[in-house]
Amino acid sequence: MKELIAKYLEEIRAARIEDFKDKAAEIDRFRVRFLGRKGIMNELFEQFKTLPADQKKEVGTILNQLKTAAQARVEEWKHFVEESPELNASHDLTLPTDLLQSGSRHVLSVTMNEIADIFARIGFTVEESVEIEDDWHLFSALNFPPDHPARDMQDTFFVEKTEGQQDIALRTHTSSVQVRVMETHKPPIRIIAPGRVFRNEAISARAHCIFHQVEALYVDRHVSFADLKQTLLYFAKEMFGEQTQIRLRPSYFPFTEPSAEMDISCNICGGKGCNICKGTGWLEILGCGMVDPNVLEACGIDSHEYTGFALGMGVERMAMLKHQIRDLRLYFENDLRFLHQFDHLV
Ligand code: DAH
Repeated sequence: MKELIAKYLEEIRAARIEDFKDKAAEIDRFRVRFLGRKGIMNELFEQFKTLPADQKKEVGTILNQLKTAAQARVEEWKHFVEESPELNASHDLTLPTDLLQSGSRHVLSVTMNEIADIFARIGFTVEESVEIEDDWHLFSALNFPPDHPARDMQDTFFVEKTEGQQDIALRTHTSSVQVRVMETHKPPIRIIAPGRVFRNEAISARAHCIFHQVEALYVDRHVSFADLKQTLLYFAKEMFGEQTQIRLRPSYFPFTEPSAEMDISCNICGGKGCNICKGTGWLEILGCGMVDPNVLEACGIDSHEYTGFALGMGVERMAMLKHQIRDLRLYFENDLRFLHQFDHLV
């Protein structure tokens, strides 16, 4: 009798609900077979009565174990089926489904696409390139002096630090794509380069170690500063509205000469002065300039024949100004309450 009980115990332990086809029916069949009035358990208890007294203690114990195991299995399976009714329910195809909540694009992607669309309308195509760059494309070809602070560990995440032009780093700006494109394409070149950039900055409301930029580059014969100005005005009006005005302030970047920074008239107060523009009526938007002849030459383009302009802007800043977002960290926290505010933008 002991062997028989052991065999049943093994069967109960090995039975898997996953193998049942019609789960509710098979659970019930199992229950009747073991625990029903004429089931295995009752039959075993009948046999038990006929055992010699000295065996009763031992067999009684394992017999009770068997009964408990069978009951436990039935309870466990019933619970399983109740928790996942779809396993067993016959499907009513006419029932309405739960509404699926659809996702939406991140406000930064929307902003980047918008910038790309504005430039596409005046003939700029999109170029993408690597995020892990070498010193040449990040700095040297862009006319950075050897001791420029951007080459310092303070600002740049290095992947491999050797001495000089073999250094490998996470790109600190998308200007590196200018070099990659000029090295491989002949003018006329008219591209924008959107993408992720990395800087060794403490994270705050105004700075982050990962952010996004869009670079634009136009190289051809007779490209002038007037072309740059007109392109900037066009961009500012398309991005921030027809009433937007721009102003250029002289600036310095190693890769452009002359260089400038562009401000737009504050789109919150219309130029009167508010706390967003800190009372000045102007908001700083991007850096730009005429491509330095040294950069053209480093990329194999004859600087006597060709000229060009370049500009670079921060995507987070564009979106902040457009949608009055006050804290950079919000972009990367994936808080749905923040993200859903931009669902309508597509
Ligand atoms: N690379 C600059 C930065 O990361 C932005 C920039 C300024 C890009 C001037 C340009 C430019 O193309 O002409 O701050």
